[in-house]
Amino acid sequence: MSSTVLVGMQWGDEGKGKISDFLSSKFDIVVRFNGGGNAGHTVFYKGREVKLHYIPAGVFHKKLCLLGNGMVINPKDLYDEIKLVEEMGVEPNLAISRRAQVILPFHIRTDRIKGGLIGTTGKGIGPTYVDKMARVNLRMGSLSGKDASKRIKIAIKRKKAELIATGIVKENEFDNFITSVAEEYTEYGRELKKYISDTYLLVNNAFKEGKSIFFEGAQGIMLDIDFGTYPFVTSSNTIAQGALTGAGANPFYIKRIVGVSKAYTTRVGEGPFPTEIQGEKGNLLRKLGNEFGATTGRPRRVGYLDLFALKYAVDVSAVTEIALTKIDVLSMLDEVRVAVGYKLNRKSISVFPSDADVLYKVDPIYKEVESLERLSKEEWKQFKGKPKEFLPKGIKRYINFIEEFLGIPITILSFGPEGNDTITYENE
Ligand code: GDP
Ligand code: IMO
Ligand code: MG
Repeated sequence: MSSTVLVGMQWGDEGKGKISDFLSSKFDIVVRFNGGGNAGHTVFYKGREVKLHYIPAGVFHKKLCLLGNGMVINPKDLYDEIKLVEEMGVEPNLAISRRAQVILPFHIRTDRIKGGLIGTTGKGIGPTYVDKMARVNLRMGSLSGKDASKRIKIAIKRKKAELIATGIVKENEFDNFITSVAEEYTEYGRELKKYISDTYLLVNNAFKEGKSIFFEGAQGIMLDIDFGTYPFVTSSNTIAQGALTGAGANPFYIKRIVGVSKAYTTRVGEGPFPTEIQGEKGNLLRKLGNEFGATTGRPRRVGYLDLFALKYAVDVSAVTEIALTKIDVLSMLDEVRVAVGYKLNRKSISVFPSDADVLYKVDPIYKEVESLERLSKEEWKQFKGKPKEFLPKGIKRYINFIEEFLGIPITILSFGPEGNDTITYENE
């Protein structure tokens, strides 16, 4: 299996966890390269549903799992997740980059104060990346050394004036604050020390030895800090290229980029969403798809498939093939349409707008699609191992239309949440 990057193509929650779980058994190493606890990747292990926020889904296949330098990590939450996996009977084979950034308590507080306009997950993601770029933050490697307590205190002292000015820490409580955070985080460092390493070396040595690596992206292309619907985005590069910097991976070894898309669209948090379905119809789709956030439990906004946005996602992230999820949910709708373009001031546009203010104003150009056949799980399973042409007419037409519009094949079709609920296609 050639080294592969898996990315979400929409605004997150496309089903990356499920697809990662399905694919990662075929690889030697699995790597996360961006984001932190804002991600919530749902997988099933021994029939139990698990929402992973840090550790890649490959952990349940006993793969070496790496958390790359591009990540921001809340050590307590990561520690709790390791314990959760252990309680499920799996000893995680884990390595954490020394260079990954540490989320500190004031990052979380700042996020909760400032993140409202964007509707962030409140996990401290943005403020931690701000401090990374401002070159004042603490990294995982500093947590595990002998001088951890000193390093933690120095990192917090650099922020003293700001924390006091913003009222996040009171001046007369600052010394106590530093001491208690240093104590707490030194302890996490002690617990996590055995995992901390130079993960970029593990990645590149594995490449040289001919091993295959699977990169599990978090969030989605439309949430990318550069190419997403800025400012309603996350603070990392979620596109496949993020795997290069976020894991220190040699670009010459990456051969496949699998983009995950739902058969419709969802979004959590604020920002433009041209194909959003409001009202009763939206409520119905949300209910049918059980569209509630894996990290915050918030109801997800729902809408029709947006091929104009997906085409943009294919282009900016060099997607080579598609994993289409939740086709089972879409087939429960009586009325199905897909956006094939946008109009701005009644004229159709050819380039995806870079400006969120413009995106709020576009009118999608829809193509009506005949409703899809509703199949039971057993009926779906009968299509495994058969070419696409055997699929029922409506479903086949829908996926052929997507493939033609985007110019790349759908190689994975997901018709349910569990690993088994999947059909794969060779590049036909
Ligand atoms: P991720 O963040 O991209 O990993 O996606 P989430 O786990 O946040 O959300 C996807 C949700 O859809 C989860 O509850 C999955 O169990 C579920 N899911 C994934 N694929 C399918 C599918 O093909 N059909 C159905 N019905 N559910 C799916
Ligand atoms: P997975 O990996 C869906 C959204 C938030 C908010 C914006 C910024 O499960 O697909 P942040 O906390 O990152 O600063 O929030 O991005 N968001 C996600 N939406 N799935 C995710 O991850 C997300 N991670 C962040 O809702 O709109
Ligand atoms: Mg999710």
